[in-house]
Amino acid sequence: MVDCGSSGMTHPPRHDESDSSEQLLVRRLDRSKLPRHVAVIMDGNGRWAQQRDLSRIEGHRAGVTAVKETLEAAGELGLEILTLYAFSVENWKRPRHEVWTLMNLLKEYLRKELRTLVENDIRLGILGRWRELDPTIVRLLEKALSATAQCGGLKLNIALNYSGRCEIVDACRRIVADWAQGKGTDIDEETIGHYLYTAGEPDPDLLIRTSGEMRLSNFLLWQISYTEIWVTDTLWPDFRRAHFLQALLDFQQRRRRYGGVGACPSAVVPGRSGS
Ligand code: FPP
Repeated sequence: MVDCGSSGMTHPPRHDESDSSEQLLVRRLDRSKLPRHVAVIMDGNGRWAQQRDLSRIEGHRAGVTAVKETLEAAGELGLEILTLYAFSVENWKRPRHEVWTLMNLLKEYLRKELRTLVENDIRLGILGRWRELDPTIVRLLEKALSATAQCGGLKLNIALNYSGRCEIVDACRRIVADWAQGKGTDIDEETIGHYLYTAGEPDPDLLIRTSGEMRLSNFLLWQISYTEIWVTDTLWPDFRRAHFLQALLDFQQRRRRYGGVGACPSAVVPGRSGS
């Protein structure tokens, strides 16, 4: 296993034209008001490819670049958790070849990027029924989970074979199983949260969706009750650091009321801290 690093991201410095505008965006960010947890629905790979007369596969491949850039930005800013929706339970309905390619891209990503994750102190988490995937992928995921288990920087959750409804079903099944073994506790919101794939993690503060679609697509249904949603028309393969920064800036303008009436520093928000 490679030692976890603790410094900034180890990537070559970037010297493109967008650097200065990104720096302006970074300067406008209030570091004390960053979201703890950002979740992303990476949508539009197919349309991106179609616009270029490429196969949908090429769109997914180009999407990996956006994954890397977003991860890098989240790490540099010191966010706690980045959750990416990579493959839903419903995505099995896609053509076999597309599913196969998505799985291969994932394998390739894990094989090539594990060292970078560890060097950048990034801890991997997988949300979903991932143990039902192809044994090769399961083995790669287990290896990556164990190699990054001690990392203390950004937590990168990848939602794989994920469905928000299945997550709630799985939680209920585990609660019932624990009850059957005499380990039952009162069922309240905290208990249910404890049985979700995201147990122990704060709910997302911000949900980003690309490609202009106004849907939740069965993503983190329990956890996003009070999440701020930010939608951009940009297709996922075109999503870059500047888009991510803009989402964070817009998030900082939102007034989160949690069903209350506005900013009230002394208000007690049950079950919520630090967001
Ligand atoms: C949705 O676009 C995207 C997906 C279902 C897959 C997302 C996967 C990646 C970005 C690559 C692999 C990820 C990792 C973490 C290595 P779509 O195909 O539904 O686009 P469309 O709506 O334009 O057809």
